[in-house]
Amino acid sequence: MAQLWGGRFTGSINELAWNFNASITFDKRFLEVDVRGSKAHATMLAKQGIITEEERDLILKGLDSILEDVKAGKLEISTKYEDIHSFLEANLIERVGDAGKKVHTGRSRNDQVALDMRLYARGEVEHMADLLKNMLETLDNIMKDGIDTYMPGFTHLQKAQPVTLAHHVGAYFEMFKRDLLRMKDIYNRMNYCPLGAGALAGTTYPLDREYTAQLLDFYGPTLNSMDSVSDRDYLIEFLSALSTVMMHLSRFSEEIIIWNCNEYRFVDIDDAYSTGSSIMPQKKNPDIAELVRGKTGRVYGDLMSLLTTMKGIPLAYNKDMQEDKEAAFDAIDTVSDCLTLFADMLRTIKFNKEPMEKSAMMGFTNATDAADYLVNKGMPFRDAHSVIGRLVLYCIDKKCAIDDLELKELKEFSELFDEDIFDAISLETCVSKRLTIGAPGADAMKKVIELNGKFLKEFEMH
Ligand code: ARG
Repeated sequence: MAQLWGGRFTGSINELAWNFNASITFDKRFLEVDVRGSKAHATMLAKQGIITEEERDLILKGLDSILEDVKAGKLEISTKYEDIHSFLEANLIERVGDAGKKVHTGRSRNDQVALDMRLYARGEVEHMADLLKNMLETLDNIMKDGIDTYMPGFTHLQKAQPVTLAHHVGAYFEMFKRDLLRMKDIYNRMNYCPLGAGALAGTTYPLDREYTAQLLDFYGPTLNSMDSVSDRDYLIEFLSALSTVMMHLSRFSEEIIIWNCNEYRFVDIDDAYSTGSSIMPQKKNPDIAELVRGKTGRVYGDLMSLLTTMKGIPLAYNKDMQEDKEAAFDAIDTVSDCLTLFADMLRTIKFNKEPMEKSAMMGFTNATDAADYLVNKGMPFRDAHSVIGRLVLYCIDKKCAIDDLELKELKEFSELFDEDIFDAISLETCVSKRLTIGAPGADAMKKVIELNGKFLKEFEMH
């Protein structure tokens, strides 16, 4: 046990209490951001004349050498330290002597950890944005290839009207596009530097907080020191956005699982992203999609955990807030894996055009268009709806599609039917006539794909 706070104590801490209190097993993830923050702090201290330039140089060199040694496996992050901040400070003092003892001037672990979490989360927000962009590019490619791949669109999981693969996947493009824009919003709201807030009430040293913020690529310093050390709103926003990403991934997973089932066979998942059964030799299971769907629960749980942790905390810092880390790390790691794997799986998945089209043909997805045909010939819509309803019943009995009937059979339902009905209710016509923006018709889809391309090209986080 090597703690930073010995002076005030006469007894030593209970071992279980020490372990319960310690965070080094998980906040060691902050090594790099803690070094970066400490270097900026020391640079600012020297600029303000609070430490000398020689001391600054020793601190910077010392911190860099610790980071290097840990990365090279020459120095272990030992659990004898309470947290990553103590580990770094103790090692720094060991390496550079008294100069190392000055790095914590005008700083508290409260603003230090607030900075570390923010720097780390900011990097992860950018990482998620990259993964979401990668997902959008994958979807964009599927859309470009799927403009004429007809498939049934569903409501209530019942075949409803024909759409195309491009159109169906395009719905997910919109979802992940909103997710990406949420990352940008979060980035812009969170990008303020809490360092210099001290324990809660700022410090009496003449710190230049604007300068520190600038060194760390923040837009500026945060404006209330009590809020600075106790704000985790940005993490809640991040975990909320990640929960929404998982909700989208989970819905998509559910569709992939349905499309992959023996009854549909709309897709073949590549061997690299499926698994077999230990007993049933014929099995090829969509485990990745199922796991993504399953892991949605833990990310929602992480968000709930953080919200609940924060709800009763009076100002300013309280140790409860140490609990933010494992929840955030778990959500970030999970979503990062899910987004990466899901996009990889989609890039290698085979969409089976034939069963998709057959399925669209067979589920009376053109019934609305058949009713519209009669309306165009002068029948009121409600009557046309009823005629086609009876026609569908007749086809169900005959086990055929409307398209399979003879004209004379159709005429028994309405004299208005003519030869042109067959063209009017073909899959191609049903889709291509839906041309308002956002609809599946090829010309409308091409416009949307063009807009998506422009979005992807022009998107910037800040
Ligand atoms: N491990 C702590 C955390 O994660 C660091 C801050 C400690 N501050 C304190 N006053 N004990 O929140």
